[in-house]
Amino acid sequence: PDEKPLAGVKTLVTAGPTHEALDPVRYIANHSSGKQGYAIAKAMQQLGADVTLVSGPTKLSPPQGVNFISITSAEEMLAACQNAMPSDIAICAAAVADWRVAEPSKQKIKKKNNTEAPTLSFIQNPDILATLSQSGPNRPGLVIGFAAETEHVTENAVSKRERKGCDWILANDVSPATGTFGGDENTLFLIDKNGVNPWHKMTKDAAAKKLSKRIADHLTLNA
Ligand code: C5P
Repeated sequence: PDEKPLAGVKTLVTAGPTHEALDPVRYIANHSSGKQGYAIAKAMQQLGADVTLVSGPTKLSPPQGVNFISITSAEEMLAACQNAMPSDIAICAAAVADWRVAEPSKQKIKKKNNTEAPTLSFIQNPDILATLSQSGPNRPGLVIGFAAETEHVTENAVSKRERKGCDWILANDVSPATGTFGGDENTLFLIDKNGVNPWHKMTKDAAAKKLSKRIADHLTLNA
């Protein structure tokens, strides 16, 4: 068998959380570790793909041989992803913040007195997965998203696939009891146009290899 079935295949992977500034010293974020996205970038690279990993702030080291782009906010992530176009494949594993503060303060927000707390006004961040999925002639041939849900996991993911316009969605349950966020294991469902395929619980590395193999098989079938 071909050891490098993805040789020369340009792949964009997003990973990690984004940080959205409230002021120069504070931000809002989420518990994403970046582990699943980094594992995917590595697995794709090992099958020969030419990988660009656009990552928010994480504690991880970039995998060897991957073109690594570090960003902080959702808007920066979108710009970095658009810069990485055209690409054959896009895999959006980042937990992008859905909202950012409409007008981050230029100076540190100060306590006024002991009772009054600031009121923050939010606006929606760009949806990177939807933007790449609906990017017309520049659209990657295969766009894959994730759906982190805490209830109705597969139902929500099936409608998310249609709403965003991506080809595949990997859905997982991120309820605190599952330990998925920050943990080393993941229980995923792969949703494509034909329906829902449950995967056994496995390490994030194993899930990344399984996904990469499936992508290679898909490209071979569609070649
Ligand atoms: O809508 P939701 O955040 O659940 O969608 C998750 C999927 O969309 C993930 O693939 C995530 O990387 C992507 N996403 C994105 N940009 C956003 C929000 C989500 O790329 N602003």
